[in-house]
Amino acid sequence: MINIVLFGPPGSGKGTQAQHLSEKFNLKQISTGDLFRYNIKNETELGKLAKSFIDKGELVPDQVTIDMLTDELRKPSNTNGFIFDGFPRTVAQTEALEKIVRQELNSEISICLSLVVDDEILVQRLIKRGETSGRTDDSDVEIIRNRIKEYYAKTAEVAELYKKQGKYVEVNGVGDISEISEKLFAEVEKIK
Ligand code: C5P
Ligand code: MG
Repeated sequence: MINIVLFGPPGSGKGTQAQHLSEKFNLKQISTGDLFRYNIKNETELGKLAKSFIDKGELVPDQVTIDMLTDELRKPSNTNGFIFDGFPRTVAQTEALEKIVRQELNSEISICLSLVVDDEILVQRLIKRGETSGRTDDSDVEIIRNRIKEYYAKTAEVAELYKKQGKYVEVNGVGDISEISEKLFAEVEKIK
């Protein structure tokens, strides 16, 4: 199995690149942000809870997100592996992921691919995406800045854990989308 953690701040291109990677290597993309938005749209209890955090640009509490991810991983699927897009976002989520992947898939995280993009470019990209995404958390510059703040406060340290395991690879996330994909593909080929 190949199990990829696609890592990076909001607006770094995780969703786009996760899709490309999933097609290239036949991997199932699991986007926790998309799962939350699906629940919000369908007005589930989980959606209502998540919305109260997402609309402020804050992280949803760990256990809520971990439980949702676990349910998703338990669904039967015919795949060579998984791409985790937007998860893990905290140290607790990273530790939980390691455990779930071991228990549910009898496997491990193969690599953490990290998209590197400057903060000011992130803000510009998210404002632009907000013109069409319909996402409440893309529509306000204060919320966008808070998401980036949450990233530095809680998520950035996740990189250290994968660095320690020798699984962390940075790729420049600024430039032509397909060129970035090619760089990511090359990193995956190296560990296949
Ligand atoms: O990954 P994405 O940018 O789509 O996530 C949107 C929002 O969902 C985040 O800003 C956060 O509020 C919430 N989220 C979370 N924990 C995750 C993934 C997403 O709290 N692991
Ligand atoms: Mg995304």
